Amino acid sequence: MIFTVGGIKGGTGKTTISTNLSIWLSQQGADVLLVDADEQESASDFTAWREETKKGELGYTLVQLNGSTLRRQVEQMRPKYDHIVIDTGGRDTTSQRAALFVSDVYLIPFAPRSYEIWTLSKVQALLSEIQEGRATPLQVYSFLNKADTRGQDNSEAMEVLRENAELNFIDFSVINRKAFATAASKGLSVFEMTPADEKAIHEVDVLFQNITGIKK
Ligand SMILES: Nc1ncnc2c1ncn2[C@@H]1O[C@H](COP(=O)(O)OP(=O)(O)OP(=O)(O)O)[C@@H](O)[C@H]1O
Ligand SMILES: [Mg+2]
Repeated sequence: MIFTVGGIKGGTGKTTISTNLSIWLSQQGADVLLVDADEQESASDFTAWREETKKGELGYTLVQLNGSTLRRQVEQMRPKYDHIVIDTGGRDTTSQRAALFVSDVYLIPFAPRSYEIWTLSKVQALLSEIQEGRATPLQVYSFLNKADTRGQDNSEAMEVLRENAELNFIDFSVINRKAFATAASKGLSVFEMTPADEKAIHEVDVLFQNITGIKK
């Protein structure tokens, strides 16, 4: 399957989700390609730290692809991998659009702050354009990342997301937890961190099982 992690807002956790998903898939025995389609190159930076921490045992292959060539290149690589995960930047770019044309699944993390939810109409416009141009519908999942442990912000954001059926909001939130940032600074997923943050692991595990359909 080809997954694109995107949206129109920076800092929602796209790279965090992309890298954790790539590693999670590889832990299930899959051959995984991680495509860094963001010119900020955060997934590449993550992978460079990972090279050091894991002594080269990445668990996935990384490539950087941008712009309109992305679509053709990903199509060429599709038969060679079990899964491809594409990490995009937080804007409506040629790369993100190209990625959405070749993807099976579009993952849109939202952080539960009202100003983020306002990017919703732009995501909807992008999505309807993409869906019109595709032969088969793109499977979309939106969810909260960096959610509060409790509080009003989550429920307001959830309510707004639920109202938009085409965004297919799923109720498997990932909470704001230090473990995600600490792991990332070492090039690790939360599944590989010691001491393990079991809550963080559980949240992404449940999310990934639901979006991939892979049950462990
Ligand atoms: N669930 C989480 N809990 C705590 N920190 C998180 C969580 N998800 C992401 N972060 C942190 O938030 C910051 C932004 O995350 P990330 O880089 O994944 O976002 P992004 O959407 O890829 O950003 P950009 O738009 O710049 O590409 C990072 O420091 C990351 O470690
Ligand atoms: Mg990023």
